[in-house]
Amino acid sequence: MTEKAINQNQETEVIRGLEGVVAAETDISFVDGVHGDLYYKGYNIHEIADHTTSYVEVVYLLLNGDLPTRQELKKFRRKIVSEMRVPTQVIKMMEIMPPSSHPMDVLRASVSALSFFDTDAKDNSPEASRRKGIRIIAQIPTLVASLYRIRKHKMILSPDPGLNMAENILYMFHGEVPEDLHARAMDQLLLLHADHGLNASTFAARVAASTHADIHAAVTAALATLKGPLHGGANERVMKMLRKINNIDEVEEYINSMLAQGQRVMGFGHRVYIKEDPRARHLRKMSEELCRQSENKNLYKISHKIEGIVLEAKGIYPNVDFYSATVQNAIGIPSDFYTAIFAASRISGWVAHVLDQYDNNRLIRPTSKYTGEYNRHFVPVKERSGNKKQS
Ligand code: COA
Repeated sequence: MTEKAINQNQETEVIRGLEGVVAAETDISFVDGVHGDLYYKGYNIHEIADHTTSYVEVVYLLLNGDLPTRQELKKFRRKIVSEMRVPTQVIKMMEIMPPSSHPMDVLRASVSALSFFDTDAKDNSPEASRRKGIRIIAQIPTLVASLYRIRKHKMILSPDPGLNMAENILYMFHGEVPEDLHARAMDQLLLLHADHGLNASTFAARVAASTHADIHAAVTAALATLKGPLHGGANERVMKMLRKINNIDEVEEYINSMLAQGQRVMGFGHRVYIKEDPRARHLRKMSEELCRQSENKNLYKISHKIEGIVLEAKGIYPNVDFYSATVQNAIGIPSDFYTAIFAASRISGWVAHVLDQYDNNRLIRPTSKYTGEYNRHFVPVKERSGNKKQS
């Protein structure tokens, strides 16, 4: 290797975690970290959370760029519900997965398997990719609820065309039409998690899409990435932590001892937001309302106290995952399914981003700084002795 090449490599600056690197152009969502705002297609998330009729309206917005008219929304809802059924072969596959396997792992394998049975499997034209994308958006909630029923040895339920997506998810989980507050809570979860700029799982989906891999492959990559505890897997760990705190008097000691040991408090901190994650505001409110009504009133109080302690000690705010845990707990979702519910929503953002990537593609292929040795000489195996380093 020439000295020039070595010098060039050594001068390369590495941006750890790609912080601040602009890797794509998109008009789908904007995360304003400085002011603590989030916009979907230009609409502030607070207005969306307060005024949308349901999550499917947000899906329409993300995929089409504008809010639907009443007629368009009705047609789109019908389309989504009509695509919610999943092939029986995939259900059978979920049935034979070990009961100890994590729901996110089963979901990842099942979404990958959906591609084998998709009528558009071999067609990766823009029209077919869009059809497949809408189908996956509709099918993931069914897969998640069906897996729950399999784990509980209960009959799998088909979606009810008369219910909206949030109601249908809870109906397919619990076997009864949910009360209004629970349906509203699920709807808020879905619409608040739908998209979030170039987060890790969306980036993974775009990287896969940039190779012209099909949309099932791109979504499978996104699901694998979402599972990690520094991303979507945080909500499950929040509940794990809350369960270890028996009452409000234990909070201070528990959290301070975590921080003293250099541990991360799950559901806190964010790469982009300097202030509070705007989604946390809505989930905090929902969590308070739900916990007040449930037998687990203490969970909200404990969570709120944790928030104050972490803010004072580290200046860090809760992110979307923190109150998502108590909201999901209150509506009867078991903690190992929390990240899968996140996925049942984020799929709409992933699909919008994958279609966006296909539309304006350039292979995503960054480079790395080489930190190894230069110009070593290859020694044939028969001439190598012991474990001694060859040069
Ligand atoms: N608890 C305690 N300290 C935290 C923290 C948390 N949840 N999140 C960040 N910090 C601290 C780090 O220890 C570090 O402190 P130091 O400089 O004294 O070492 C500082 O804040 C910066 O952390 P860093 O890891 O560089 O920030 P990041 O931008 O790479 O990380 C997250 C962002 C989200 C990965 C990080 O905040 C985290 O791990 N949060 C917990 C997991 C979570 O909730 N993920 C869901 C995100 S939506």
